[in-house]
Amino acid sequence: MIAFDNVAYNYGGGELLSDISLRLAPGSFHFLTGPSGAGKSTFLKLAYAELLPTAGRVTIFDRDVRGLTRDDVALVRRRIGVVHQDVQFLDHLPLAANVSLPLMVSGKAGDPRDMTDLLQWVGLGQLADALPPQLSGGERQRAALARAVIMGPDVILADEPTGNLDWEMSLRLLTLLVELNKMGKTILVATHDLNLIRTAKNQVAARVLRIRNRRIQLAGADL
Ligand SMILES: Nc1ncnc2c1ncn2[C@@H]1O[C@H](COP(=O)(O)OP(=O)(O)O)[C@@H](O)[C@H]1O
Ligand SMILES: [Mg+2]
Repeated sequence: MIAFDNVAYNYGGGELLSDISLRLAPGSFHFLTGPSGAGKSTFLKLAYAELLPTAGRVTIFDRDVRGLTRDDVALVRRRIGVVHQDVQFLDHLPLAANVSLPLMVSGKAGDPRDMTDLLQWVGLGQLADALPPQLSGGERQRAALARAVIMGPDVILADEPTGNLDWEMSLRLLTLLVELNKMGKTILVATHDLNLIRTAKNQVAARVLRIRNRRIQLAGADL
């Protein structure tokens, strides 16, 4: 689905990521870990064509990101749901409208029943009319996940989705991600929470990628 071949990236200073080659196979579940500043968010941005590699090649759905037009990028993005590190909502719009924003932007009429089902699935059925500032951190993260999946993406990229959540809420979010994976979605979660990764490994066959010295390595049992 998404492939990196000898990818490097730098923002203009020294090289941040070097010589990265890996493949996210359909239906796989990956964690991406590494200390703050290691380049996790940068890696995700490369994976959804927000950034272009400074060397090597990133292929998304069999297309080299370098050859993508603006319209192509928009189409690719419909197949990739992203949960951003700093979740942003339009504060004057109710939760349901915020979650369905991707549908509106792409000119699709969503089925209101699907919307109800989706909000219930993330446990926000009662909060459809709430405004974002009224939501707790855990509610915001679950709303962000609902918004990321509303277009029915094949791939979900989540950047520190449990960053500010307590343990119980983190587990709840993890359960949703595992459920999505069981439905066949390809999942990549960037997190520095090793407890979350250890817990997830009991629920799903996840591979753990670790950024170390600018490179990505497969973490083993030493986690
Ligand atoms: N737009 C940018 N311009 C310049 N440097 C950046 C930019 N975004 C991130 N960086 C730097 O790149 C490094 C990696 O950042 P990031 O990918 O956000 O790491 P992580 O998500 O692992 O914490 C950091 O040192 C960060 O300051
Ligand atoms: Mg980050």
